[in-house]
Amino acid sequence: MRVKLLSIIFFLILAAATAQPQLSGDALKGSKRYDQYEKPQACKSCHVHIYQQWRQAMMSQSYTHHWDEIEYFDLAVPHAEKVPELKDAVDGCNGCHTPLAFMAGDVPPPRPSANSRANEGVSCEVCHTISGWEGDVPVNFSYISSPGRLKYGAKPGLKSPHHDTEALSLYEQTEYCGNCHNEKNPYGIWVKSTQIEWKEGPYAAEGVTCQRCHMPKALGKNATMAKEDMVAQHLFHGAHDAGKIAGTIELRMHPEEREVAYDGMAVLQLQLFNAKTGHKFPSGSVEDRIVWLHVTATDAAGKEYHLPVDRKGFPGEAYTIASDVLGYQDMGLPKNIPDFAGVARDGVPLGNRIYRMPYFDPQGNITIMQWNTKSLGVDYRIGPRETKIETFTWQLPDDIAIGEVTVTAQLNYQKLVKPVADFLGVPADESEVIPVNSTTTSFEVYE
Ligand code: HEC
Ligand code: HEC
Ligand code: HEC
Ligand code: HEC
Ligand code: HEC
Repeated sequence: MRVKLLSIIFFLILAAATAQPQLSGDALKGSKRYDQYEKPQACKSCHVHIYQQWRQAMMSQSYTHHWDEIEYFDLAVPHAEKVPELKDAVDGCNGCHTPLAFMAGDVPPPRPSANSRANEGVSCEVCHTISGWEGDVPVNFSYISSPGRLKYGAKPGLKSPHHDTEALSLYEQTEYCGNCHNEKNPYGIWVKSTQIEWKEGPYAAEGVTCQRCHMPKALGKNATMAKEDMVAQHLFHGAHDAGKIAGTIELRMHPEEREVAYDGMAVLQLQLFNAKTGHKFPSGSVEDRIVWLHVTATDAAGKEYHLPVDRKGFPGEAYTIASDVLGYQDMGLPKNIPDFAGVARDGVPLGNRIYRMPYFDPQGNITIMQWNTKSLGVDYRIGPRETKIETFTWQLPDDIAIGEVTVTAQLNYQKLVKPVADFLGVPADESEVIPVNSTTTSFEVYE
């Protein structure tokens, strides 16, 4: 009898302990305190190299970076003040960009200049207290956070004087990253889907995870007192590293005929092969990003001609060819500009092919305000290991010089379309033209 009673009590205690709500997503807001989490500086003394790597990665700047501050404080927050239904979504920015502030209920957090703990961004503790996630698909900060002496990682049986450790297979899975790299907005639109793109692509089938390309392993020490081992480098190279962008797409171009009559037509074909990304290119902040192709021909007299790309005729193609139309009219609301006419949609030479996926606001205008996106346009990005072909049909101009014509294709990347960057006063590095690759071919013009 007594044994039975004891076991019932034991069972009840156990049930109470396991019934501890495992909060994730929106429910995390205000559920924790800052002082439950250690500062990154507390990890620095032993994890010297990992700390310094993290300092240089975007993870440590996810709240303080200039464009993040501008978009959040000049567009998102004022927009939610005018349209109260957006408040939860705009608070939610912090669930990924500064999770400690979000979990502490410190939203909107103080500006970066206030030097508050919000500035820690995606810190060591944010990542190493993740003990699981909830849902069918990882999305919108669906991680479960369990702060304390126990730090989670991928390696079993490690000993540390500062903390306990536990290995979870989640740390080697892409779902871990998907918690913040997939995002659904208030209209139910997938405004970020890097992990989903990966899952649908060739690298998932081969088991090549995000970690393999963004946290590569190298022989070294993960802590000053640790033994040498293969250690996950916290590099997180991405759109902010010209070297990661460089060579992502391999190019090759040829003319259909090597000799063309002076009054004839040159037809050039170009292959673009995505050799490097595990997801589409561009991915992530797709609403901001463009990749564009610029093709020029130079005749024997040194005269240069710009060749616009041939149309293919697919639905929505107009958004993939640079034009001088305006867009982004929805910025007028948060910026207090009634009947805002918008700014140039592309800001790149007219007629050039653009690899992008346009986002549309409820009025049907192109937008960079991902939280205000009601539909997505044509997806003309370059998938992992996908090859796209473009053609350029060129009626030779009357005054073309006889002799060799050199044709050069230059593929460029921009993190943020320039007209938007200029309008919002975003520092130039965010809209600078980053070379991806180039290729050259030639043909002869004869009389
Ligand atoms: C006093 C030194 C020291 C400090 C301070 C310290 N650690 Fe560690 N940590 C270690 C050692 C030692 C190991 C085990 C290394 C090994 O044997 O490979 C370790 C291992 C880890 C691991 C790997 C766990 C696994 O199972 O893969 C993580 C994650 C970790 N630490 C996170 C942190 C975080 C986050 C902080 C700051 C809040 C921190 N550490 C502070 C010494 C320290
Ligand atoms: C974006 C999330 C993220 C952030 C931020 C992060 N880590 Fe990690 N860390 C991971 C993941 C994931 C792994 C396991 C990677 C693997 O094994 O492929 C890991 C591995 C580690 C390891 C074990 C490395 C090894 O292979 O021996 C240590 C130690 C560690 N992290 C400490 C830190 C410290 C200290 C910081 C802050 C300076 C930090 N981490 C920031 C996600 C993160
Ligand atoms: C807690 C949320 C969170 C988790 C978990 C997380 N990330 Fe991130 N990550 C971010 C945020 C936010 C940024 C954007 C920083 C910025 O530009 O503001 C980012 C930036 C990056 C970048 C740099 C992109 C660029 O534009 O340069 C890479 C690469 C990246 N993450 C990869 C990963 C990988 C791989 C994992 C899993 C091991 C992971 N992240 C896990 C939130 C997260
Ligand atoms: C096969 C290697 C590879 C794999 C696997 C991979 N990436 Fe990448 N990733 C890249 C390269 C190369 C770039 C730089 C080009 C670019 O910006 O897309 C990149 C860029 C990024 C960016 C910046 C994207 C942009 O255009 O702003 C993010 C964020 C990112 N990766 C996250 C992830 C996450 C999360 C995963 C797993 C779901 C992952 N990556 C898997 C190679 C990889
Ligand atoms: C589900 C997680 C998540 C949510 C919610 C989220 N972001 Fe992000 N954000 C990211 C990640 C991850 C990146 C990096 C993607 C990349 O590099 O392509 C990013 C990138 C950005 C960038 C571009 C940074 C750069 O330098 O290129 C800005 C600006 C930004 N977010 C602002 C916001 C705002 C404002 C909100 C709220 C309306 C928001 N984010 C909501 C995860 C999130």
